[in-house]
Amino acid sequence: MASGEGSNFEALVTACRQGPLRGRVLQLVVNNPGCGAQRRAKRLNIPCTVADHRLHRRREDLDGVLIETFTAAGVDLVVMAGWMRIVTPRLIGAFPSRLINIHPSLLPSFRGLDAVGQALAAGVTLSGCTAHLVTEDLDGGPILAQATVPVLNEDDRMTLAARIHAQEHRLLPLAVALAAERLRDQG
Ligand code: GAR
Repeated sequence: MASGEGSNFEALVTACRQGPLRGRVLQLVVNNPGCGAQRRAKRLNIPCTVADHRLHRRREDLDGVLIETFTAAGVDLVVMAGWMRIVTPRLIGAFPSRLINIHPSLLPSFRGLDAVGQALAAGVTLSGCTAHLVTEDLDGGPILAQATVPVLNEDDRMTLAARIHAQEHRLLPLAVALAAERLRDQG
């Protein structure tokens, strides 16, 4: 699931195709027609469905489209790789312990929107990214993995976000592998 650039989506595809992730990206869903992620899917030859949130009155209806699409694709795990919409219990309940989110802060600090701006405003000297399982608690589900980056005096949103992004691309495939391993262990 992606809303914007899709660099994390591409990192997952690359990790599957070139290692270290033993898996396959079967399906992308984007909510913004024409977004970078959609273009990347075309280049990478991954099926992409557009589920435009503007066409749905209720969040649950958008999530219904996501569930149908992923069920039809036969996925084991669903990754919110830069998904900028709030998801509802409908989606969360359809993929228990199988829905993963990547967030650009060291959770539990700086939940919600503009996490990078929040970190800068707070004056922290260390930030990073968190991959976690999604629960009904926004950005509050069990943490799978985190990576840290320094915050430099001269940082602005762009420079800090770029440093975090580089770590996300490394972290997210590892977190997906961890989530898959946990599911296997649970039988
Ligand atoms: C990533 O930094 C991700 O952590 C963030 O959106 C960016 C998407 O980048 N997600 C959130 O803020 C979710 N609350 P990308 O489209 O290049 O992967």
